[in-house]
Amino acid sequence: TANLPPIYSISKMALFQHDTKLKDPFSLAQKDLQNLYEDIKKQLLVSKAELKALCDYYFDGKGKAFRPMIVILMARACNVHSNKEGVLLPAQRSIAMISEMIHTASLVHDDVIDDSDTRRGKNTINQVWGERKAILAGDFILSAASMALARIGNTTVVSVLSQVIEDLVRGEFMQLGSKENENERFKHYLEKTFKKTASLIANSCKAVSILVNSDPEVHEIAYQYGRNVGIAFQLVDDILDFTSSAKRLGKPSAADLRLGLATGPVLFACQQFPELHAMIMRRFSSDGDVDRAWQYVLKSDGVEQTNYLAQHYCQEAIHQISRLRPSTERDALIQLTELVLRRDK
Ligand SMILES: *[C@@H]1O[C@H](CO)[C@@H](O)[C@H](O)[C@H]1NC(C)=O
Repeated sequence: TANLPPIYSISKMALFQHDTKLKDPFSLAQKDLQNLYEDIKKQLLVSKAELKALCDYYFDGKGKAFRPMIVILMARACNVHSNKEGVLLPAQRSIAMISEMIHTASLVHDDVIDDSDTRRGKNTINQVWGERKAILAGDFILSAASMALARIGNTTVVSVLSQVIEDLVRGEFMQLGSKENENERFKHYLEKTFKKTASLIANSCKAVSILVNSDPEVHEIAYQYGRNVGIAFQLVDDILDFTSSAKRLGKPSAADLRLGLATGPVLFACQQFPELHAMIMRRFSSDGDVDRAWQYVLKSDGVEQTNYLAQHYCQEAIHQISRLRPSTERDALIQLTELVLRRDK
């Protein structure tokens, strides 16, 4: 167990010592996010009606626009830091849009890989139109995002966001056929989590900082904030797969176990209940494995430990963003970590 992270025991009170009368991050970013989905749909220029319907399917305005919100707040916080208070560059708003497009394309592809039939309470694209068309729709959304990215005309920003696409593919591969040994499992899990979830947030934050500031230290702050919040976000997601009801999630719960995936709560539970080891190794494929593993996790403090770990990443995100000059948006990004930890769907 040498490579497992230490057991964190940060008190929640110690974590948030900042002003409680802060502006809600979502309402603060709302004005800049107006028409975001309309603008995305304008990027998806296709003459073929069916392809258009597939591409537009998830841009129905029902998404939380969580990534664009972080990107907008980070952009404005970096702009204040660079004496451009009150400004949002058009290119920075494009990054917010592109981040949502890349995210959505990855969901479309993930649903094919996982053979999922529901997402956000509606049927998946692969369920309605079939796998082949779903793959093409995902590709099309990615190509439209690439064109929007190229239009910004900054090669540094192009390469920063291209890294995201590479990471998404590598992360998905890591999740497909992992046979790591017990010691490497947690490291593998966190690396996969970075690649599949956090890289997009980290690199989008970095991109908007590059567009306004030439100081590499500022780019690193933006990147590290995004990386830490992104990992915390996914850890909480992995907890919700155990603790939230299927109805609230808009997809079946224990979905990860059913897919053969051992996430944070299971990996921590395995420290207490070594019986889980064999089930993890066979990816919960024997009869009753999913139920048994589920029981072990709930009996263990795996959920609590995963939550502590998410708190640890949020604390680091706060530490990073606090190095920027004070602004309403910076403080909203601090407060956002609390929303990440508290969300229940
Ligand atoms: C990207 O934009 C930033 C900010 O305007 C600028 O400093 C940098 O030189 C640009 N890089 C390239 C490769 O165009």
